[in-house]
Amino acid sequence: MSDDNVLKIVILGEGRVGKTSILSKYFKKKFNEGQESTVNPSFYEKTVNSKGKSIQLKFWDTAGQEQFDAISTIYYQNSVGALLVYDVTIFETFKKVEKWVNTLKEVVGKDITFVIAGNKFDLSDKNSLSQNSSAIDSYCAKENCKHFYTSAKTGFNLDEAFESLINSVLTKINSSTDSSGVNKRRGKKLEISEQKKEKEKKGCC
Ligand code: GTP
Ligand code: MG
Repeated sequence: MSDDNVLKIVILGEGRVGKTSILSKYFKKKFNEGQESTVNPSFYEKTVNSKGKSIQLKFWDTAGQEQFDAISTIYYQNSVGALLVYDVTIFETFKKVEKWVNTLKEVVGKDITFVIAGNKFDLSDKNSLSQNSSAIDSYCAKENCKHFYTSAKTGFNLDEAFESLINSVLTKINSSTDSSGVNKRRGKKLEISEQKKEKEKKGCC
């Protein structure tokens, strides 16, 4: 597939919030209670059709631990969308979402598309969710992004969150692609090719 048809999406958030688990559940239908911290970023691929074109999406899993901050920003480069993950049982991890979004905007540009996932919903309690909901709503209104409660353990809302992110990314890409097929955002032409597979790969971007 031509590089012009490949779009990069990054998964960001503090260490242990469930980034790797979300990807594993969504792509492999597997959840691991003993999931270890990510050291080497890896990606999963998904091919979608948009307006008659086949587009390959690469979802990059990154390390959330602070010692990897400097390395991680390399992986943001050229991304067109992001899934920002926090842990609903530790609300400080939501406050860090703002930090991740700011860094992302510095590296990629202000018009990055992102969706927020409040993960570990299976462990949440109603009181703390309702206490924090107004802060989440006002941040999402300011940033014009969507928020989903998710569970990598049960799979709750994962399809919805990924579908929302993919649709937002494709809408933005299509709106910046003129009728001749030239992508004004990337300055390159999108080409059509046939490929439908999902697989995990390791390596750099
Ligand atoms: P780093 O790679 O260190 O940045 O962490 P991460 O964000 O990738 O988190 P990871 O997927 O490794 O999950 C951390 C721990 O939380 C693991 O023990 C998972 O099993 C657990 N976990 C992840 N998501 C969920 C969830 O939705 N519910 C529950 N109950 N546990 C979860
Ligand atoms: Mg991880």
